[in-house]
Amino acid sequence: HGGGAMSARIGAAVIPVGGLGTRFLPATKAAPKEMLPVVDKPLIQYAAEEARAAGIERIVLVTARGKSAIADHFDEAPELAAALAASGKTAEAAALAASDAAPGTVLTVRQPRPLGLGHAVLCARAAVGDEPFAVLLPDDLIVGPRPCLAQMIEAWERTGGMLVAAMRVPAAETGRYGIVAPGARKGRLVAVSGLVEKPAPGAAPSDLAIVGRYILGPAAFAHLERGRRGAGGEIQLTDAIAAAAGAAPVHAFLFEGERFDCGDKLGFLEASIACALARPDMADGMRAILARRAGRA
Ligand code: G1P
Repeated sequence: HGGGAMSARIGAAVIPVGGLGTRFLPATKAAPKEMLPVVDKPLIQYAAEEARAAGIERIVLVTARGKSAIADHFDEAPELAAALAASGKTAEAAALAASDAAPGTVLTVRQPRPLGLGHAVLCARAAVGDEPFAVLLPDDLIVGPRPCLAQMIEAWERTGGMLVAAMRVPAAETGRYGIVAPGARKGRLVAVSGLVEKPAPGAAPSDLAIVGRYILGPAAFAHLERGRRGAGGEIQLTDAIAAAAGAAPVHAFLFEGERFDCGDKLGFLEASIACALARPDMADGMRAILARRAGRA
């Protein structure tokens, strides 16, 4: 098997975007939080580009009422494109075209009620079909030398089963994440013997936290379908992976790169600063701003 032949098996990336975004009110009163820009690109576009960079063709947005701007973002905008072309704004025209999705590659399904992340993923079942699939949570922005999901698919071609992206977190913060019970480690892969959603620090099996990138299989849907409520009374994706873990191997993948929690205000601001510093056209300006402000702190 060549790597290409195996990676073609992951045909769909599920991106849950049904959340209410209450932590960013009032910004998210009339606009979805996934449309908040880090520098000049909305969070949803970072996630979609990461899926594309991993060779995944189909994007399944799990959306909800009031969030139609997210799907609209992937449409072409012919009037705007024509106006930019007519006024010779080629850079702007290219930036605009970069968010156009090829016809038929962005699907939307609805999550009728916000019953949890696991429930959101379950809503994508018919659009995904009976094959391995990826899940990306747009709140988790991962920046690095290689896109996180592409790294994971390469690892998954060797492991099969299910894969969750993972990183170490301060012991006091385990209650904010799904936490892995780790087994043997080999390079960036850690065997997983269990997973717990948002355990209190005393009850956490480790400090290895799940971040929002997954490669899953149809078995996850089978468990989600039972509708069992977990932490916070929600149908949790972590619980479905834990339930499936007996039948197929589950690995945690220690990705190369830096993860920003864009569901948090300070995390979002840090992502903005880091992304500006990583851009040749903005790095000097951003550095000058940081130096100036550091002097006042
Ligand atoms: C979700 C998952 C959790 C994971 C986290 C990563 O939690 O349920 O297991 O660690 O994403 O960002 P949420 O942040 O939606 O509460």
